[in-house]
Amino acid sequence: MPLMTTKPMFDLAYSGGFAVGAFNVNNMELAQSIIDACSREKSPLILQISKGARKYANIRYLKHIIDAAVEEHPELPIAIHCDHGDTLELIQTCVNDGYTSVMIDGSHHPYDHNVKISADAVKIAHAAGVVVEAELGMLHGIEEDVVGLDAAEYEKNVEKFLTDPQQAADFYKQTNIDSLAVAIGTSHGAFKFKSEAKLAFNRIEQIMKTCPGLPLVMHGSSSVPQEFIDLVNKYGGAMPNAKGVPEEQISMAVRNYGVCKVNIDTDLRLAMTAKIREVFATKPAEFDPRNYLGPAREAITSMVQRKLHILNSAGKMDAINKQWEKLGKPMPKFYTKAKVA
Ligand code: G3H
Ligand code: 13P
Ligand code: ZN
Repeated sequence: MPLMTTKPMFDLAYSGGFAVGAFNVNNMELAQSIIDACSREKSPLILQISKGARKYANIRYLKHIIDAAVEEHPELPIAIHCDHGDTLELIQTCVNDGYTSVMIDGSHHPYDHNVKISADAVKIAHAAGVVVEAELGMLHGIEEDVVGLDAAEYEKNVEKFLTDPQQAADFYKQTNIDSLAVAIGTSHGAFKFKSEAKLAFNRIEQIMKTCPGLPLVMHGSSSVPQEFIDLVNKYGGAMPNAKGVPEEQISMAVRNYGVCKVNIDTDLRLAMTAKIREVFATKPAEFDPRNYLGPAREAITSMVQRKLHILNSAGKMDAINKQWEKLGKPMPKFYTKAKVA
């Protein structure tokens, strides 16, 4: 049953020119389509659960859905990750709930506070065999809400918010984290760039030099496929000027720049919304949820399958399972089926 931490995945991804997709899960259809795509493509995956998802779906239900997926696909390397954990209490709860990986996001705090909360999260998680991602720098889409900055202002001053390579080295040393989420020009949501879509590859290259071997994580990495935006806009939605990270740039980041984890949520939301809108608009008498959630599920599966090739993780399943065995099949201390605090 390869439910595992991200360690065996990142061990191979860092130098293997691929990244593991981290997909946000909020309900059964999302979980099923992501798992189905990864099973078809023999790809490792990370299912990530935000604080909002825990609240929306009730973590007990989500946990059982994920356990069902693991049972259905015992061959797939899967990590269960807490996305944007903001307090040590939440980190402890996720560890107790049997997550295999957690993110402590202290990026909006002053540097010293970020170091302290991240190092404390590492102590809590490592004691249970759980790995930790932390963040340095600021992405817009979530974090600027905390400091009250609008998107245009962010983009104008983007250099200032990118991860500082020297600070990253100090942060790594002081916290002992397992991976680092970096700000390199990506942002959360469907409106990522007002002008040219461009990631700061020079910055990420410097971070690789100051933090050799540290797996890097790209948040805000949806590509916002135009076909879904077109469907949304055609069938009553209003998402003008939506723009994501170009697939070629994601591909470059995972192949050459130590990016081992790529976070995707917006594209899942878009695929689902686009298909549901299409069914509602073209079949106004439809009221069976299976007949609009079903097409949504299929659209998500195809979109994720395509992404696994961009991430170059398709076909990496067996190698990761072997690496997991080589490491002695480590399992976090608290993992038991559907155990929640
Ligand atoms: O980066 C955040 C993810 O997209 C999760 O969003 O907090 O609305 O679940 P959420
Ligand atoms: P997107 O909004 O680009 O999908 O990013 C999701 C994310 O970073 C989740 O942590
Ligand atoms: Zn994120």
